Amino acid sequence: MGFVDIEKKGKYAVITINRPDALNALNSQVLDDLGAVLDGIDPDEIRAVVLTGAGEKSFVAGADIGEMSTLSKAEGEAFGKKGNDLFRRIETFPVPFIAAVNGFALGGGCEIAMSCDIRICADSAVFGQPEVGLGITPGFGGTQRLARLVSPGMAKQMIYTARNIKADEAYRIGLVNAVYPLEELLPAAEKMAETIAKNAPIAVRNCKKAINDGLQADIDKAIVIEEKLFGDCFESEDQREGMANFLRKKDDPKKVKVVDFQNR
Ligand code: COA
Repeated sequence: MGFVDIEKKGKYAVITINRPDALNALNSQVLDDLGAVLDGIDPDEIRAVVLTGAGEKSFVAGADIGEMSTLSKAEGEAFGKKGNDLFRRIETFPVPFIAAVNGFALGGGCEIAMSCDIRICADSAVFGQPEVGLGITPGFGGTQRLARLVSPGMAKQMIYTARNIKADEAYRIGLVNAVYPLEELLPAAEKMAETIAKNAPIAVRNCKKAINDGLQADIDKAIVIEEKLFGDCFESEDQREGMANFLRKKDDPKKVKVVDFQNR
């Protein structure tokens, strides 16, 4: 659909931002198309999502500078809210998102990757928040998520200097979990999505919520958040089947089987 494609592959999906002529830059239409694609994902059917960019050069080269160039103060704020609302949907979506960063991840590109649960990248990837060179702040969550993900000092250095970093440095500072040759990136991301999708989906969903919500709370409140989500799992058939399978395996190793979790 439009500038954003989705391919469902069994229990996971690959979403591709597809505007290669503009290095997949995010204009309003791309943001709307991505929102519509998210609307169409049923978390009972799709258990993990890979997000990538079309072409071999760019993941997402930022918010669309042409579109932003004429915005008023109120329009700028509204455009920031549009991006922030969408990225927050990804961050809180009830299945994990893996960003497969296949090239430039600048400005909004770095920001959308940071709203995903996990980031892996090609050795050709370039990350950065170049906004101050354009006379603006990062506007789709960059000042907040980069400081939380790496460190406040490193985030401030990247944002104030507007200096891009390469894949090896992104790995060193913990912005990405792993670096691959470009041709191995998508297969690695899909393999990870498939692995996640085989696990008990209610448990995976609760883990995402526990980590995300817990990080916003003090430790005493955070462990209570975990307790409740842990407790919830004991109402699921997946917990009963997962544990029964382990116990069957112990009794008789010949009974080993892969649990087909039903998301119930
Ligand atoms: N917004 C709008 N269009 C963009 C864009 C953006 N963020 N990033 C790239 N494009 C467009 C270019 O205008 C160009 O379009 P054209 O062919 O119609 O002229 C096309 O994508 C290819 O980009 P180009 O600059 O020619 O490629 P390059 O290889 O020389 O440089 C970049 C690649 C990523 C270094 C460069 O495009 C760039 O600096 N982009 C802006 C990055 C940025 O500041 N993002 C944050 C925005 S807040």
